[in-house]
Amino acid sequence: MTFITDIVSTNVLESSVSGIKEMTMLSARVEDAALLTWGLPSFRTPEYIREGVKGYLDSDLAAGKYTLPDGLPELRKLAAEAYKADTSIEVDADENVMISAGNMQALNTLFHTMLDPGDEIILTDPCFASHIQQINLFSGTPVYWPLVEDKDWSLDVDLLPDLITDKTQAIVLVSPSNPTGKIFSREELMRVGEIAKQHNILIIIDDPYSDFVYENRDKYFNLASVEELKEHMVYLYSFSKSYAMGGWRLSYMIMPAELKRQAIKVHDATMICAPRISQLAGIIALSQPSNHKQEFEAILAGRRELIYQRLDNVPHVFSNQKPEGAYYIFPKIIAAHTNSKEFSIDLLNNAKVAVTPGSAFGPSGEHHVRIAYCVEEDTINRAFDRIEKYFS
Ligand SMILES: Cc1ncc(COP(=O)(O)O)c(C=O)c1O
Repeated sequence: MTFITDIVSTNVLESSVSGIKEMTMLSARVEDAALLTWGLPSFRTPEYIREGVKGYLDSDLAAGKYTLPDGLPELRKLAAEAYKADTSIEVDADENVMISAGNMQALNTLFHTMLDPGDEIILTDPCFASHIQQINLFSGTPVYWPLVEDKDWSLDVDLLPDLITDKTQAIVLVSPSNPTGKIFSREELMRVGEIAKQHNILIIIDDPYSDFVYENRDKYFNLASVEELKEHMVYLYSFSKSYAMGGWRLSYMIMPAELKRQAIKVHDATMICAPRISQLAGIIALSQPSNHKQEFEAILAGRRELIYQRLDNVPHVFSNQKPEGAYYIFPKIIAAHTNSKEFSIDLLNNAKVAVTPGSAFGPSGEHHVRIAYCVEEDTINRAFDRIEKYFS
């Protein structure tokens, strides 16, 4: 212990980097590791966006400047239009829309805005690892809502009312889900919406993956499209995956006007604004037609088939279950092991394959691993050749 640990806050001391990044960092030390940890798609930002940004850099004298904390009006207007096209819900670009530096920053802003110590946020279990960490960093309490593994990780809405207390502020939903790839059904989501409204709590939809639903387009339902829930709804759309813009750090937030008036204070005090150059890229992304999303989805569909087949060949190592959307699969570990973390570290050190331990995604994730199949087919094949050999 040095004096540094004395001056670091308890919340930070007790926190750690996510299991996803931890494994990614560990694998960087293993030469030629096959990396299936990070949800970082192999795609390049589409050309029309890259070219458009070059144009702005040459012609827009303000391109290097700050914007207002809620983002460029033109991008907010385009976001409102995109939201209307997706959900049929009308929102006001000034009152309801805020541009953020990715959904992670958007969530951070929301939790910062909402949480007093001990306030509760309901998370599905398993859920995205960073949701847990962010809530803890703001002295909030994540409350786990276990998904039903036997029903392909669907919601058990009957459990929800008992999880709600007078400290509950919001329920976070991700569909298609990270880490399970599950698309929650319309009926389940509608019931969640009713319960949230009845108890006056917010629903936060964290949406990086709704463009990747494969043959399940008809099953996908965006709860944000329910007009009666408008005042209880926060919808976060990320450009990271659908536009292969993870490094640009860009997202839009749609929320009730009063919440935006509060959240803008946090944006202003903590980040000033999302990077202007990325906002300009967002204007190009949303204002020009492009079929790259369908192309990405078609490529990911091929990788999903491949990983599904490769998992079928190792039933003594992992269970298999076809994910409905996103680009993750969350098999149970069948091979002998103590816990998912030790299993993952052993797999990395001995087979040079990096996966994320399921325990990083909440208590129900233990004894599973998350495999991200957004990488090139070569990497998937190399990883599974090694897994087959190691467990032969
Ligand atoms: C559920 C979920 N939310 C948020 C993020 C991060 O999104 P962004 O790049 O927009 O911050 C991810 C990335 O993997 C994710 O899976």
